[in-house]
Amino acid sequence: MHKTIIGTDVLETKRFLEEGELVAIPTETVYGLAANALDEKAVLKIYAAKNRPQFNPLILHVANLDQFRKLVLDIPLACKKLLLELTPGPITFLLPKSDLVPDLVTAGSNLVAIRIPNHPLTLELLSQLDFPLAAPSANPSGYVSPVTAEHVMDGLNQKLPYILDGGTCQIGLESTIVGFDVDKVIIHRLGGISAEQIRDITDNHVEIALSHASPTAPGQLKSHYATAKPFYLGDVELHIIENKGKRIGIISFYKSYSALNPAVEILLSNRGNLNEAAAALFSAMRNMDSANVDVIIAERFPDQGIGMAINDRLERAAFKP
Ligand code: TXA
Ligand code: MG
Repeated sequence: MHKTIIGTDVLETKRFLEEGELVAIPTETVYGLAANALDEKAVLKIYAAKNRPQFNPLILHVANLDQFRKLVLDIPLACKKLLLELTPGPITFLLPKSDLVPDLVTAGSNLVAIRIPNHPLTLELLSQLDFPLAAPSANPSGYVSPVTAEHVMDGLNQKLPYILDGGTCQIGLESTIVGFDVDKVIIHRLGGISAEQIRDITDNHVEIALSHASPTAPGQLKSHYATAKPFYLGDVELHIIENKGKRIGIISFYKSYSALNPAVEILLSNRGNLNEAAAALFSAMRNMDSANVDVIIAERFPDQGIGMAINDRLERAAFKP
């Protein structure tokens, strides 16, 4: 058990990591729960703190291409184009791993997921380390990802000594995960970079292949990002009728449903901006979870740009096994 401190000291963070401890780090997407990726004992602490099954592999974080290339065997041309245009940034690359990467990190796969996050504090930290950081989102397995230091504290208090506070995450959704086939780019998780952007940059065929069932295949569990309260997605009015008599919380894009008398409503972007809505989504889900409502109802978003990633998170939150 730890006394968990929130602070902004990069050197202190580095010291904990070098001692094999866990720290939470800010990124542009969500906060990560980080450990020295080359130290198996430290990596095991990540799985334990999150209560994460060990068959679900971890993303590596590095500061620059020099650190990046040592961890992979080969970088295809499409990947180089994406690296050039989008990193540091919210995109993760699935590539054949080098021998440096422990099997524990990839859950036995010969592919490693790796990214260069775009956050000044974390880039400063990573550039001072002589090992990559393995970091899943800093939430208990299955819950909504954290976008502030306080969110990390809410979920993982006493499970780690230090949370590096870098403010609120700007993108607010996890990175887009891409893999490469002979002549196509495969999107395994929708996130901060849209499918349209990837198509434009690579001139390649882009396939979206979100996996739900097996997390050893790239991807994620279907029931994920779940609030504790029942969560419904789609036609707001119909879901209100179905939940008659209950206290309703509504999450919408920019339209107000106040005429339907919800107990609480959160509009994610008054001006109808999808990036702003994405950045506000996880805080809204957490706020609804602690508000005095019985059920949470969310609108579906336009399926374009980052709207596709928003819908993906909402669908997983609403998934009933
Ligand atoms: O934005 C992000 O990517 C954040 C920040 C902290 O970097 N990280 C993050 O990690 O979202 P996590 O663990 O919550 O989600 C990583 C996803 C999981 O669905 C995992 O199954 C997949 O990436 N993954 C990681 N390594 C993989 C591998 N070698 N092969 C296939 N899938 C992998
Ligand atoms: Mg996660």
